[in-house]
Amino acid sequence: MNVLIIGSGGREHALAWKVMQSPRLTKLYIAPGNAGTAACGENVPLDVSDHATVTRFCREKRIDLVIVGPEIPLAEGMVDALSGSGIRCFGPKQAAAQIEASKVFAKDFMIRHNIPTARYATFSGFDDAIRYLEIVDYPIVIKASGLAAGKGVILPATVEEAKSTLKEILVGRAFGEAGDEVVIEERLSGQEVSLMAFTDGTSVVPMLPAQDHKRLLDGDNGPNTGGMGAYAPAPIFASALMNEAMESVLKPAVDGLRNEGTPFVGVLYAGLILTEDGLRVLEFNGRFGDPETQIVLPLLETDLLDIIEACMDSKLNDVVIRWKNGAAVCVVLASKGYPEKAESGKVVAFDALPENVICFHAGTKIDNGNIVTAGGRVFGVTAWADGIASAVRDVYANIGKVWFEGVQYRKDIARLAL
Ligand code: AMP
Ligand code: GLY
Repeated sequence: MNVLIIGSGGREHALAWKVMQSPRLTKLYIAPGNAGTAACGENVPLDVSDHATVTRFCREKRIDLVIVGPEIPLAEGMVDALSGSGIRCFGPKQAAAQIEASKVFAKDFMIRHNIPTARYATFSGFDDAIRYLEIVDYPIVIKASGLAAGKGVILPATVEEAKSTLKEILVGRAFGEAGDEVVIEERLSGQEVSLMAFTDGTSVVPMLPAQDHKRLLDGDNGPNTGGMGAYAPAPIFASALMNEAMESVLKPAVDGLRNEGTPFVGVLYAGLILTEDGLRVLEFNGRFGDPETQIVLPLLETDLLDIIEACMDSKLNDVVIRWKNGAAVCVVLASKGYPEKAESGKVVAFDALPENVICFHAGTKIDNGNIVTAGGRVFGVTAWADGIASAVRDVYANIGKVWFEGVQYRKDIARLAL
């Protein structure tokens, strides 16, 4: 098979690394890719928002399968465009991708299908939203409805801060169109679990439950980020919780989307929070998580191309999905200044890593033959071993082997699970 992966982050390097291991692969392309994916296949500098260009490329290179990594191309209808031209493309169509691209859609959808989630109200007018703040009787979170690269969720500390946040979004248009509508939602507390699942539109098979670390600093302090590290499987997510998540979240979501005439084929990601009153959905994503993919795929034994093909042929039940025993831990190496204003252009030095440790690239590029930093999150160093404790030990024992000026990372990834 000739395969094209869309995207350029750590998730896409992990996808490329896994696809590269398939005996079915003939040639792999990544658009646009990064310095890490260049070692798995051929990077191509395509403008992925230009569907006609991507279609032409797929015809020319006889691409048998396109795998879409990020949410923006899904929301822009890349799967509709390519499959309309007869090119096989893995991911939800635009209408189903609304489950991630519109938080207003996702919340209303959850209510229609009895999927447990936080109480909420939605607003497009500033005055109405402010009036709601006066009467709401629960602590709140404010969310821009549209895609905002993980920055659209604000946890205001005071009513004043809530008001100024609403003003920035609805009047100042801080998130542009993504903030045309906002969700004001009940603030919940508890441990969070990322549960991704493969689905063919009818059947659902969960992947290993993972935990992400969103805050910049040790002890879950500092600002929110795209994710500073993750581990899987999450021991807190015992089998009773997995059953509950399947029955009360994943199956009703996939059935609901199909019954509403927008079947979802791809990876459905439920962001869950385990509250005192039970499990609740914080969000859905319509794609692989980042950095969750960097820990889940190294533990996947089955050929990813077999699973993806089964999803697209409505035959997910026919494949047996096998996982390695043990656990994986990923620690993100970020640039100085991340998440506010990250440095870039720093040359990276590498030492050889042992077989159970891999350095997935995110914000890197090749410049004059050197690998240089090119973004906030630069690498995800991932180790897998027979348990979380040994994976933690191996990842931190080797983390100094990837170095650039100003590197910052958390020292306590997965500590919660030990
Ligand atoms: P989301 O993109 O909706 O998952 O939100 C990003 C992060 O904001 C989550 O991973 C949580 O840490 C936090 N968050 C979102 N919604 C809530 C909520 N209702 N209560 C508490 N924290 C939340
Ligand atoms: N790790 C969070 C996300 O992929 O959205």
